[in-house]
Amino acid sequence: MRRKVTVIGAGNVGATCAQEVARRDYADVVLVDIIPNYPQGKALDMNQAAAVLSYEPNILGTNGYDDTAGSDVIVVTAGKPRAPGMSRDDLVTTNEAIVAAVTRDAVRRSPRAVVVVVSNPLDAMCHVAKAVSRLPRERVVGMAGILDTARFRAFIAWETRASVKDVLTIVLGGHGDQMVPVVSATTVGGVPLEQLASKARIGKLVQRTRVGGGEIVNLLGTSAWYAPGAAAAQMVDAILLDEKRILPCTALLEGEYGIDGLYMGVPVKLGAAGIEEIVKLRLTAEEKKALKASAAAVSEVVGVLTHR
Ligand code: NAI
Repeated sequence: MRRKVTVIGAGNVGATCAQEVARRDYADVVLVDIIPNYPQGKALDMNQAAAVLSYEPNILGTNGYDDTAGSDVIVVTAGKPRAPGMSRDDLVTTNEAIVAAVTRDAVRRSPRAVVVVVSNPLDAMCHVAKAVSRLPRERVVGMAGILDTARFRAFIAWETRASVKDVLTIVLGGHGDQMVPVVSATTVGGVPLEQLASKARIGKLVQRTRVGGGEIVNLLGTSAWYAPGAAAAQMVDAILLDEKRILPCTALLEGEYGIDGLYMGVPVKLGAAGIEEIVKLRLTAEEKKALKASAAAVSEVVGVLTHR
């Protein structure tokens, strides 16, 4: 029997994630949205693409949750995206109600699933999903770091004129403008970035990464979806294929990195059990300070939640 992935929210990010997963061809996909006919239409389109792109046409669109029962992974993308001039945190009240409702409806029918949260403000929405689902911290994980790291990798590849495949780095912290691109852990083909670019140039890449989401919102009038959808699908792969990938994901910290009781982006080992390990990375004093500042910003948003 094939594995089952539910994606909640058939908008830009959810639909992209659903198609990325479908294209892997190892799982059936259920796409849920509140708008009548919308997920059904998107699923039909994706099923018709299957013959051309060589995957099985097993995507089901629905407005209810009964067909999601027994899912192995639930990806939560339901909620409002940012518009120009908005911060992710401006979405907190609207999206808290949505994420709480959809998580409750889905987890009730799939109590063994791993929940991957995508809706913003991401770190706070992870708290909501964790509180409502009552799942252990291993099984409620957020997607942000893979996207932020992918942005940093693209900028470094352009700067060094190297293949993006050879750029290794990691972005930690909250999914906000105070995120922490870890320059000390950045290499291009094994060579530390600090040997390849000046401090000033690296500073510019770091800053562009921090506001990378806003750069796209300003261009498009809404937030990104190709990279976020692909990043969420990479997490689904790591879990369902038990890959034990070490990826930057948002996890509930219980003392790791000197932070307790807060969801933050850190390197985790992602496999069949969800978060199988929180990987410890040695940071410079400056990076540690930046992580603390990022935690304070996340804490402030979490403070306004009803579910935490
Ligand atoms: P979108 O507006 O294209 O899609 C959101 C979908 O959620 C809509 O189709 C809407 O009908 C649906 N929805 C709303 N309430 C619902 C409910 N109660 N039940 C089921 N479906 C419901 O937005 P987009 O661009 O797909 O973004 C989705 C979320 O992901 C936003 O909160 C956005 O800020 C966030 N995001 C997070 C990223 C990250 O790195 N964590 C990156 C990009 C977006």
